[in-house]
Amino acid sequence: MANPLFQTKPMEVLQAESGSEHGLKRTLGKYNLIALGIGAVIGAGIFVLTGQAAAQYAGPAVTISFVVSALACAFAGLCYAEFAAMIPIAGSAYTYAYATMGRIVAWIIGWALVLEYLFSGATVAVGWSGYVVNFLGSFGIHIPEKLSSAPIIFDANNQLVFTGALINLPAILIVFIITALLYRGIKESANFNNLVVIVKLSVIALFILFGWQYIHAENWTPFIPENNGTFGHFGTSGIFRASAVIFFAYIGFDAVSTAAQEAKNPQKDMPWGILGSLMICTIVYILVALVMTGIAPYSELNTAAPIAVAIDKAGAGLAWLSPFIKLGAIAGLSSVILVMLMGQTRVFYSMANDGLFFSPFSKVHEKFKTPYVATLITGGIAMIACGFLPISILGELVSIGTLLAFMIVCLGILILRYKHPEYVRPFKTPLFPVVPILGIICCGGVMLFLNTIIFIIAGSWLLIGLVIYYFYGRKNAKY
Ligand code: ALA
Repeated sequence: MANPLFQTKPMEVLQAESGSEHGLKRTLGKYNLIALGIGAVIGAGIFVLTGQAAAQYAGPAVTISFVVSALACAFAGLCYAEFAAMIPIAGSAYTYAYATMGRIVAWIIGWALVLEYLFSGATVAVGWSGYVVNFLGSFGIHIPEKLSSAPIIFDANNQLVFTGALINLPAILIVFIITALLYRGIKESANFNNLVVIVKLSVIALFILFGWQYIHAENWTPFIPENNGTFGHFGTSGIFRASAVIFFAYIGFDAVSTAAQEAKNPQKDMPWGILGSLMICTIVYILVALVMTGIAPYSELNTAAPIAVAIDKAGAGLAWLSPFIKLGAIAGLSSVILVMLMGQTRVFYSMANDGLFFSPFSKVHEKFKTPYVATLITGGIAMIACGFLPISILGELVSIGTLLAFMIVCLGILILRYKHPEYVRPFKTPLFPVVPILGIICCGGVMLFLNTIIFIIAGSWLLIGLVIYYFYGRKNAKY
């Protein structure tokens, strides 16, 4: 037998599992899947990080950063689509790695996906908390900072600093509510998600349409501010640093693939869900970035609610839009948390099903047909993370986990085309092998622009994962 570390999960088993009548319910259609993608993607990235990236790294050229990140995502997205149509079962990149590169790579990617989904649920919950505190504040209801922010942060020198705050209670509350929804079932959650997607796209469309008239071309001049002497602060390197920061804004389109086992017609609809949501989000982001940096000087956008700041800058004519934007952000961020936490429960579910992770995680609720143990534990950990950690650390951790997963997915497509050309591929990545190779290069390039401390934390995370694999997964793996 081949080295068990590189043992792959047989395609027949995967396809049999995907056709299984037992387990999760198949209720999601093409538009549900696109909505799921948009629900996961448009969130704290555009509502919070765009302004900060413009102010600190790229100026109006943050628009170009969005194109750079979108390219990296598009290459990876095409590879995701090929996999998702070919292996339409829950588990996303984890499952694809198991089918192609073997158990240990699957474990590593599954563990990286925990960073992506679980922690992005937590990251966005922190953003949600910020908008809620701000919104309530405009009605005179003040939630003390001590109870609505993280007790620790890393300062500019990467030193751990205590902020004096105790806990982020609003963030914990939203994760609690979303966990309860997910426990109840996917169909109910998908309906809630569709509604929220409509709300958030509407407020963003209002911002673009009405904001456009208040653009002052001088705010775009120079479009690429000159580098201030520090690498990554404006100029060309700033565009790339900003693209690493706002990469977070695109994370989530791959969450569509984690719902493959709940899709009615996965072969046809997965590519639609993944690429459709990615394309819509890219257009929206470029327009929002243009309008935001056109209305307000970029240096004023380093705030928790940059879109609201831009609107204020436009003056009385746009003041009516401000409460809608805040409410839209609050609703929009809720749906991101929902899809991310759902993605995480499905990854745990698949890993446990394969014997690589603790078996209770694969239990399906008799009545609701949801992986309820995975849901409760995911929700619990996310509550702890969002209650005590700051958005900056959480956000970049999410990015590194995602970029690693994207790179492995692109590599998987390369390997599988050569190793198993006979597999049926309802969707094929175009321009093979250029697209997967560019995917690896672009995602790796973006990763290099992340903060060094993130590499240290992610490395430690990987070590913990390997220990769990050694003592549990290695012994209990079914394939
Ligand atoms: N892309 C998601 C967001 O921007 C994670 O919040």
